Amino acid sequence: VSWKPIDRNSSTAANDAEPLLSGAIREKIKGFFPRYETKRAALLPALHIVQEACGHISHPAMIEVAELLEIHPSDVLDVVSFYTHFCDHPKGQKTLLVCRSLSCELMGGDAVLNKIKDTLAVGEHGTTEDGRYTLMTEECLAACDMAPCMLINERMVGNLTADGVSAVLDDPDNDRLPIPRNALFDPPQQGARAGQGSTSDVQEMIDAD
Ligand code: FES
Repeated sequence: VSWKPIDRNSSTAANDAEPLLSGAIREKIKGFFPRYETKRAALLPALHIVQEACGHISHPAMIEVAELLEIHPSDVLDVVSFYTHFCDHPKGQKTLLVCRSLSCELMGGDAVLNKIKDTLAVGEHGTTEDGRYTLMTEECLAACDMAPCMLINERMVGNLTADGVSAVLDDPDNDRLPIPRNALFDPPQQGARAGQGSTSDVQEMIDAD
C-alpha cells in the first residue's frame, strides 16, 4: 500500500483567483479582533459571518479565513467539520434544521421529520429540486418546551405536527423573525445597527461591494 501524503500547510487555491470574501466581510471579521487576545479566537464569529454572507463555507473560503486569522487552513476545516451548524457545500434558500433529540422524539418528532421528507422528496442533507429548502437535523435546539420543533433559517418553529407540516412549508414568511435579530455576530461598533431588527445587514454589505 502506498500512502499519498497530504500537505495541510499549503494553500491549494490558485494565486490569481478572485477572493471569495468581499472587503466588507473581511472588515466585519476584523471588527472582532480587538475583542480577543489572538486573531485565532475570532474563528467562530468569522465562520458565522462567512456562512451568513455566502450561504456556506467552501474550502477556498476556509483558506481565506485562515489567511485572515493567520492560522492553518486545516484548523479552519477542523472547526467547520466539528460543528454540524456549519456547512461546506451550497444549500437551498431556506434551511430546515429539525431537532432529533429526546424531547422532540417523544413528542412526535420522527413523524414530523418523515412528513417533511415525503413532502419535499428529500432526505437529510438533501436540497429540493427547486432549490427552496435544504433539510438537516441537529441535536437539541434548546426549545424542548416547544417540542417537536425546527429552525427555518434562524426562526424557531415549535409544536409541530405531521398534519401541519405542509402549511408551515407553504408559508412564504415561515422564516421571518418575530423579534429583532440577535446582534451576537456583529462587531461591537455595529451592534446598534443590528439591533434595529434587520436581517439584511450582510446582504447590504454584499450589495455595496
Ligand atoms: S429535544 Fe428538541 S429542542 Fe430539545
